[in-house]
Amino acid sequence: MSGRLDGRRVLVTGAASGIGRACVLRLLDEGATVCGADVAEAGLKETAELAAAAGAGDRLSTEQLDVSDEAAVAATTAAVLTRSGGLDALVNAAGILRTGHTHEFGLDSWERIIAVNLTGTFLTTRAALPALLDARGVVVNFSSTSAAFGHPYMAAYAASKGGIDAFTHALAVEYAKQGLRAVALQPGSIDSGITRATAGDLPADVDWALFGRLMPLLGRGMADPGVVASVVAMLVSDDGRFITGTGIRIDGGTHA
Ligand SMILES: NC(=O)c1ccc[n+]([C@@H]2O[C@H](COP(=O)([O-])OP(=O)(O)OC[C@H]3O[C@@H](n4cnc5c(N)ncnc54)[C@H](O)[C@@H]3O)[C@@H](O)[C@H]2O)c1
Repeated sequence: MSGRLDGRRVLVTGAASGIGRACVLRLLDEGATVCGADVAEAGLKETAELAAAAGAGDRLSTEQLDVSDEAAVAATTAAVLTRSGGLDALVNAAGILRTGHTHEFGLDSWERIIAVNLTGTFLTTRAALPALLDARGVVVNFSSTSAAFGHPYMAAYAASKGGIDAFTHALAVEYAKQGLRAVALQPGSIDSGITRATAGDLPADVDWALFGRLMPLLGRGMADPGVVASVVAMLVSDDGRFITGTGIRIDGGTHA
């Protein structure tokens, strides 16, 4: 079999669920060798089982990792690099969402969201950068439509994602001449752990006139994570070679 991503070495965080898992399976399907990292061990095992069932288990390794833990990120990245001999792409899909009225939002929740989503993206990128620069590779970060459009009850999450957009743009310019690309994806309304949990996490007095604005025009409700994984595969491949320093919105037209 000859795939678009044969020989590419990719590290995917958030690999135990939703979009990250879909990315792992799609990248494997197109020929890549993948390390899937996530804090959730049981979910990682399920991802490995799905990869094995698809006949690609021999090209997937997994690492239990909390991306907000600086020392753990350094150690895991070093282990991945030793195993793979280099890295062509980093896909930063790990993320968390907690909702609530901003005037009631706890500092602990604010800090955890920033630590995982924004600082986690920084830590994994920093650790992988030397190898990515060697390979003239790509960083695919996960922002959200909430970064550029108002999503009620998600101020902390939106702030973390706005930071990821800004981080990605700076990265793209800083390293463009060394051949590195950096892209921020802005998904919306994708069926995943985050969106399923949010349904039960909204404030009891949620204003549906506000929250109901976040509905896609295409399809019937939430989309399969595969609609995002296909874009990630394109960005990791040569087909994405002229794309950097930009966001790509994947929301079924919610914010068209
Ligand atoms: N689903 C959507 O509609 C949507 C919209 C916008 C952005 N996103 C972003 O897409 C990315 C993937 O999320 P998803 O929708 O697949 O949700 P998900 O909950 O299914 O997956 C997120 C994964 O991140 C992992 N994770 C959480 N904290 C971690 C940590 N500290 N270290 C390592 N892994 C950790 C979780 O265990 C989980 O496996 C996230 O960054 C999310 O913010 C999703």
